[in-house]
Amino acid sequence: MCGIIGFSGCEPAAPILLDGLARMEYRGYDSAGIAVRSEHKGLQIKKAKGRLQNLSDLTHNGADLEGTLGIGHTRWATHGEPNDINAHPHVSENGQIALVHNGIIENYLEIKESLLQKGVRFTSDTDSEVVAQLLEFYYRESGNMLDSVTRVLHRIEGSYAFGIICSDYPNALIAARKDSPLILGYGKNGNFIASDVTAILKYTRDVAYMDDGEVAVITPHTIDVFNSELEPVEKTRSQVDWDVSAAEKGGYEHFMFKEIMEQPEAIRKTISPRIRNGRVVLDDISMTADYVRQISRICIIACGSSYHVGMVSKYNWERLLRRPVEVCLASEFRYSDPLVDDHSLVIVISQSGETLDTMAAMREAKRRGARTLSIVNVVGSSIARESDDVLYTWAGPEIAVATTKAYSTQLVLMDLVGLYLADQLGSICEEEYREILEQMQLLPEKMQEVLKQTSDVQYYASRYFNHSSIFFIGRNLDYAMGMEGSLKLKEISYIHSEAYASGELKHGTISLIEPGTLVVALGTYAPLFDKAMSNVIEVKARGAEVLALTTEAFREKMEKTADATIAVPETHTILQPSLGVVPLQMFSYYMALQRGCDIDKPRNLAKSVTVE
Ligand code: G6P
Repeated sequence: MCGIIGFSGCEPAAPILLDGLARMEYRGYDSAGIAVRSEHKGLQIKKAKGRLQNLSDLTHNGADLEGTLGIGHTRWATHGEPNDINAHPHVSENGQIALVHNGIIENYLEIKESLLQKGVRFTSDTDSEVVAQLLEFYYRESGNMLDSVTRVLHRIEGSYAFGIICSDYPNALIAARKDSPLILGYGKNGNFIASDVTAILKYTRDVAYMDDGEVAVITPHTIDVFNSELEPVEKTRSQVDWDVSAAEKGGYEHFMFKEIMEQPEAIRKTISPRIRNGRVVLDDISMTADYVRQISRICIIACGSSYHVGMVSKYNWERLLRRPVEVCLASEFRYSDPLVDDHSLVIVISQSGETLDTMAAMREAKRRGARTLSIVNVVGSSIARESDDVLYTWAGPEIAVATTKAYSTQLVLMDLVGLYLADQLGSICEEEYREILEQMQLLPEKMQEVLKQTSDVQYYASRYFNHSSIFFIGRNLDYAMGMEGSLKLKEISYIHSEAYASGELKHGTISLIEPGTLVVALGTYAPLFDKAMSNVIEVKARGAEVLALTTEAFREKMEKTADATIAVPETHTILQPSLGVVPLQMFSYYMALQRGCDIDKPRNLAKSVTVE
């Protein structure tokens, strides 16, 4: 959730921190704060409730704060309401130590109690302040900051990425991590820490990923990393190849719209290097054909939209592999005493590669002997590094909280992996294999066609944006796709919406259909189109207003019954959701736009969910 950044360098820290926070605001936007140390003024702390702009205004874009060492934070509140006091950085009682934190300290109440008994006074309701106060307590005893940080880390439980500065240390920033992302950035005019690489991309591409239990001391010219016993650790540095402009709006009003438009290219980048001479080539994974044949259980784990990709893939993989495939919500899987073992293949899908529940579920699967293959967008993220194999989606940085291009690239990559496994198992005939691959390579082009229908979708949104409850219905792949369409809509437009398997309508949901209720009927899954039509007729008979999504081949039939119809080009059945989901994304976007919502930063949400 929260985003943290730190800088120790040779130029003013505050503008750099604010710029970095602006690029990470999707991690949380309840409040923001920075702490900068200067020779003359000591630690200067500025915080502001609400959007980062408030903090930028308060500090005149950082010009008010002097100093070249600092930390910054953008918050997604867990403990304590979003206000100036609970905003980070938190400062120890004597004002000497400032700290930013992403994560949750689970035993903070017990530590707080013991510090209160010793007379320490607290100002905020947060779990994070406890760490600043405990740090001061140990620092008073030892006079050594690094030792004190290590002692604190042995005492606290939970997840954290910390950035810490102390007025006694003019150049040094201390960082630590466990279960929350933190990267180290090696710059020309100084060094960095950040939750996300996008925050520092403008300054450096030279990064290293901190591992759990590590502590780092960052100065303008050095970064020293230690393990939990304070033994030095040699880090491997890597170069980030993301384009800086990819994380900027580039003339678009919203990141979400820009990212919707970037989908054809993102899909091309994800599939092209993996199709050679008409075969799927997955160089990055080490699974042998023998291994694939002895898999007895396939389980997909993920959260949110990534879980919806899993839903589509369940249908597709079962068809391609003729093996049972299960999809589990990561938050449920991790506590379900899961039945996986060393004959299980667990597929982990995550855009950020940092979602805490997904990571915990993956660790649980590994602990039980399962082999893990992750589908991840962020290179070097925790899930990518901890899984046995990783396949990257090459969507580039995704900034809008509501995912679009990451979802689409996950979808095609899962289709590719499905084909690869089917080939290994011999469960697919050559003709279908070739047909799917051919159609897959045409997807970017066909998606461009879909994107040309923007104004139609915009028109429908202007017609329907006042609805307060919307139902998505569909069967098979349409049902799975409807789940994503419905989630997108509620995330950014705040309209209540549910997705139902059409066959379930009669078992309850149809009682909610009354004259004027908007039903988005999905009829892109060709094998069950007639059944989709029957369901449209059923809800129409109860007075529903029907916006239908189908393929060009069925447009005419659908138009006779539905009130409004959007059609996408045909492709191979298993790939149809890749085209069908695009109008649904656009529909949500325009509905939210009509309603005046903050599209890129919807209320209460954050892009990277690193708390439970
Ligand atoms: C958050 C985001 C969703 C995303 C989900 C899982 O809820 O808002 O867009 O689908 O997390 O994230 P992941 O990074 O694991 O795909």
